[in-house]
Amino acid sequence: MNSHKLASDAVDQTPQQVLETAFDQHDAVAISFSGAEDVVLIDMACNLSDAIAVFCLDTGRLHPETYQFIEKVRDFYGIDIDVIFPEAESVASLVKEKGLFSFYEEGHAECCSIRKIEPLRKYLTEMDAWITGQRRDQSPTRSFVAQMQDDLAFSTAEKTMKKYNPLANWSSAQVWQYIRDNDVPYNKLHDRGFRSIGCEPCTRSTAPNQHEREGRWWWEEATRRECGLHVVVKDE
Ligand code: ADX
Ligand code: SF4
Repeated sequence: MNSHKLASDAVDQTPQQVLETAFDQHDAVAISFSGAEDVVLIDMACNLSDAIAVFCLDTGRLHPETYQFIEKVRDFYGIDIDVIFPEAESVASLVKEKGLFSFYEEGHAECCSIRKIEPLRKYLTEMDAWITGQRRDQSPTRSFVAQMQDDLAFSTAEKTMKKYNPLANWSSAQVWQYIRDNDVPYNKLHDRGFRSIGCEPCTRSTAPNQHEREGRWWWEEATRRECGLHVVVKDE
């Protein structure tokens, strides 16, 4: 079986039902937080549990507005947020060898691997499951995202990592309706035409007629606009 099959077999549940399942099934489960979707999940999770774990991968290249947003969410919900940093030596050696903007020439894989994927891999060794804000309509690469799946990219011989995507079947409009209805904090960059927000050098605003993913790694092909956090690994 592979993740595509898991996704197509899944019966859609509400985001709250998926969160409840995640909290019921695992003690060591954390919400990965960077964008608008994730705060919707934090908001829902705070209504379901007194003790949620939330983490953010700080690549060192985020917008000032994103740092302000992280702090606002921490304060607004009164929660701890684990801010995860990359290995200083790995970043230093990449920058020394290739400079600060190698991704424009060589693609984003190496920089994302050092600044996001390896820190996430290390963090997840302490976890049994993680929760993300992925939506199926976010990207051509996400059209098969399941609400619950085995995450083979971060599994080991000892442990199958579980991944929950409670908003898989939500549209962007539903996310923003929830944000407005519940006065959920959001990144101020959204008021300046940014829709999908990652690192500052790899994110740009988009016109209304563009897909939100056009704002990410725009110099690369649409099918390569994943940083590796959400790689689908097939086991057959
Ligand atoms: S990315 O892989 O292209 O960067 P995207 O920005 O669409 O991901 O976000 C999808 C989900 O990945 C978010 O809802 C969040 O769960 C997780 N995520 C992305 N970036 C980070 C980050 N810097 N820290 C923690 N989680 C993140
Ligand atoms: Fe590096 Fe850009 Fe990936 Fe951020 S999104 S880790 S700056 S390549």
